[in-house]
Amino acid sequence: MKIYAAKDYNDLSRKAANIISAQILLKPNAVLGLATGSTPVGAYKQLIKWHEQGDLDFSRILSVNLDEYKGLSGEHDQSYRYFMNHNLFDHVNIHKENTNVPGGLSEDPEAECRRYDQVIKDLGGIDLQLLGIGGNGHIGFNEPCEVFEKGTHVVTLTEETRQSNARFFQSIDEVPTHALTMGIGSIMGAKKILLLASGAGKAQAVYDSCFGPVTPHVPASVLQLHSDVVVIADQDALALVKEKAGLFVESWEGMIYDN
Ligand code: PGA
Repeated sequence: MKIYAAKDYNDLSRKAANIISAQILLKPNAVLGLATGSTPVGAYKQLIKWHEQGDLDFSRILSVNLDEYKGLSGEHDQSYRYFMNHNLFDHVNIHKENTNVPGGLSEDPEAECRRYDQVIKDLGGIDLQLLGIGGNGHIGFNEPCEVFEKGTHVVTLTEETRQSNARFFQSIDEVPTHALTMGIGSIMGAKKILLLASGAGKAQAVYDSCFGPVTPHVPASVLQLHSDVVVIADQDALALVKEKAGLFVESWEGMIYDN
């Protein structure tokens, strides 16, 4: 695991966009595992800018998103399909038919989960998986629990996650109670993983995930077992790493940890 300290959110977004862009340049038909939430928005904006400048071509890129709320259609403005269209896909030359998000409205969610795992398999796996992290250490919607779930599955969202996402809805009652999420096995199957964390609310999760025990109670801690993970975190998200991890670094900017 490599950890990069970003100066601030803009720096984090540029660093992340650089890594995603390198992946696209190195493999123009790469399978990108994409994430929603506020954290990756800055990176997506940067990618759009580079695309507009003629530097990035998405025409052969394939994508699979991590998760979707159960019960929301792709037209709902809080669905993750809508988010991806609005924040990235509508602004670059990716072919929408090459983009995948779990179907939130499927009448048989279990079958939809199996279909989604098959989609990932048929694509040959994920080249680069982008991740945010929940304040409770969740990745995708893999919430803290007793066992790591391997494949795509339906989850009951924790109260903490619903509260945290309520800011995007009119009220907490409108936040869906369930979601479909890629499993830990699919995420760990990605060749490369890029996790982004911004803000003090992520400090505990970042510290526990990078330096705590590997446990499904902190889902992101499983990333310690992956051979190619890059974490980019801003200064606030690194607060506990600075305080407790005992890292002796010259500066809290750039790469601070490589293990
Ligand atoms: P955020 O969400 O980027 O909006 O903080 C991250 C997550 O919950 O995975």
